[in-house]
Amino acid sequence: MNKKKLLDKLELEIIKDTVLPLRESNLVFGEGSADADILFIGEAPGANEDRLCRPFVGRSGELLTDCIKNIGWQREHVYITNIVKRRPPENRDPSREEIKMYGQYLARQIQIINPRIIVALGRFAMNYFLPGAKVSRDQGKIFIVNGYKVMPMFHPSAALRGTAVLNKFKKTFKKLSTQKIKARL
Ligand code: URA
Repeated sequence: MNKKKLLDKLELEIIKDTVLPLRESNLVFGEGSADADILFIGEAPGANEDRLCRPFVGRSGELLTDCIKNIGWQREHVYITNIVKRRPPENRDPSREEIKMYGQYLARQIQIINPRIIVALGRFAMNYFLPGAKVSRDQGKIFIVNGYKVMPMFHPSAALRGTAVLNKFKKTFKKLSTQKIKARL
């Protein structure tokens, strides 16, 4: 079965999983190329994402999309998802339980896509892979976790809050563009 079909099958499994928390919100499974070399992982959908059932479509998403374009790529070349695939009420932080429950599905999504590099956006995504890491200290570094290259980055919403973080965010994107990655649609 090809990767796209495997992802569709996984999405159906999530839809049918009645034990998952946050079922009052819409499912935002993820989008992009199933054959992507780069996988971006955020925290959880916000209000815009919940409404459109697509990841990173608000202001943070605009910045992320612009930065992807600035390194000569398009959003469609990469895959974008979140750890927690439904919106927590009032955009509160995802709970441990939510991360654990949705994290099992994220692990399978990663296995299917098998990217060359995973970009963990912000603290929650980073700590999913690297429990002891700190974004301010470790963003832009490359770690090997379970055989995958993982690069933590600031969350784009943090980059939108201040110029210093924005500049670091852009610099880390430049570093990302030097990795051996190809656009695969
Ligand atoms: N923030 C996230 O972490 N994920 C989204 O999809 C949108 C905003």
